[in-house]
Amino acid sequence: MALTRLTRTTLSIATRQLRQLSTRTMAQLVEPTEPTVVTDSVPGPASKSALRKLAKLQDTRAALFVGDYTKSVGNYIVDADGNTLLDMYCQIASIPVGYNNPRILAAASDPHMAVALANRPALGVFPANDWARLLEDSFVKVRPAGLDMVFTTAHGSDANELAFKAAVMHYARKKRGVRGFTEEELVSVMDNKTPGSPEVAILSFSLGFHGRTFGALSATRSKALHKLDIPAFKWPRAPFPQLRYPLDKYEAENAAEEKQCLEELDQILRSNPMPIAAAIIEPIQSEGGDRHASAEFFRGVRRITKEHDVLLIVDEVQTGCGATGTFWAHEQWELPTPPDMVTFSKKMQAAGFFHTREMVPEQPGRNFNTWLGDIPRALIAKAIVAEVAEHGLVKQVNETGAYMLKHLKPLAVRYHRVVTNVRGQGTFLAFDCPTSEIRAELLQLMRNEGVNMGGSGEETVRFRPMLTLTKAHVNVFLTRFQSVLNKLYQKHWP
Ligand SMILES: Cc1ncc(COP(=O)(O)O)c(C=O)c1O
Repeated sequence: MALTRLTRTTLSIATRQLRQLSTRTMAQLVEPTEPTVVTDSVPGPASKSALRKLAKLQDTRAALFVGDYTKSVGNYIVDADGNTLLDMYCQIASIPVGYNNPRILAAASDPHMAVALANRPALGVFPANDWARLLEDSFVKVRPAGLDMVFTTAHGSDANELAFKAAVMHYARKKRGVRGFTEEELVSVMDNKTPGSPEVAILSFSLGFHGRTFGALSATRSKALHKLDIPAFKWPRAPFPQLRYPLDKYEAENAAEEKQCLEELDQILRSNPMPIAAAIIEPIQSEGGDRHASAEFFRGVRRITKEHDVLLIVDEVQTGCGATGTFWAHEQWELPTPPDMVTFSKKMQAAGFFHTREMVPEQPGRNFNTWLGDIPRALIAKAIVAEVAEHGLVKQVNETGAYMLKHLKPLAVRYHRVVTNVRGQGTFLAFDCPTSEIRAELLQLMRNEGVNMGGSGEETVRFRPMLTLTKAHVNVFLTRFQSVLNKLYQKHWP
């Protein structure tokens, strides 16, 4: 695209200003060595006042505190009161390489970014001349084995929703064969009736979470409150194993549990009244309470879905991008045949799904929307992928995760009334509290001590730090954690 002299001048001024801004910001920002909390508790008065103002415009009841993202740096988030907290929750598991990471700031101030932000294209109709190259430099660099294509979307639920559409269209095509659509199909679909709008299901697993949009919500099984009052597809739910910890003590029981779950999956796929196009599964059920299963279980899921000619969608929205110790968590299963689709979002800071060529519908424009992704998000994903590779962050996650686990396990013995079932892969770790009230108390005390953490499920505390977490950060966490555990013991079990 030839830029006019005016555009070129404007762009170069804007770019210079952006570069100066990001250079200034980068120069000023140095990661602290420990948290500082200057208010009696978090949120402090400035956060509370900002939230009161915001509440006039939006529902703020889930907000924990107000962030100051110009001052947040690396693994530390700064709030409106100037409190600096070690962030082990990271915007619900979605910050990969630190706040105000220099490489990400540089990508944000690149001239390509300004053009992309100023001229958002409808990528399915008028793709940018360098879009293929950008896909190659970002998502394709980390595509899971066996999945050659990438469909870019807006967010995690959207990625799953569009993967479901690809699955049911693929199913219909197999059934229909070479014939085109019938007149009856073309007419009935306009009334949402069969045969044009067929009865076909996506199977999901108990306590799985796949998002909150209408279709995705029918596959979500984690909390009733998310689903209540929303019309749902009558799709089947298979059991997900409920493992007992420590794993080495309950090896036989856990193996029996997984076998039972696989048998039930097989039975559902054999006898469900509605045909099933695909099964969707998380490598670690995250929102549902950090529930794990063995690689053998997942290999069983792949084997059984293959036997029944059912597609397998792996939802890596939360587990993807390195946090579990491999770039994609499902790499650890060593599947004999790859999944048919893998969805992503969160730490990639861009969303979509990888898929095989067979997932492309026969007619164009059917799995489609206006933007089909976003160039700025892909530019950021490119910087993230480069940062992860250059700094060996997946290896670092393994080392830091092992260190953290080694220190958490003895705490679970010493403070067994609060910390149980320590588990996880990489730094994607978790433990259970005895009640949701104790968990809420623990999370609040941790924030007051300068560590931001989150929960999952009913009683679980989940660690979702950045890939840049080091052993030094873990030591900062451990000191505060022990102090909070002592406080909880003094209060509840003096
Ligand atoms: C595994 C999984 N899938 C899908 C989603 C939905 O993603 P989003 O909130 O971006 O729509 C989430 C969000 O937490 C998730 O954890």
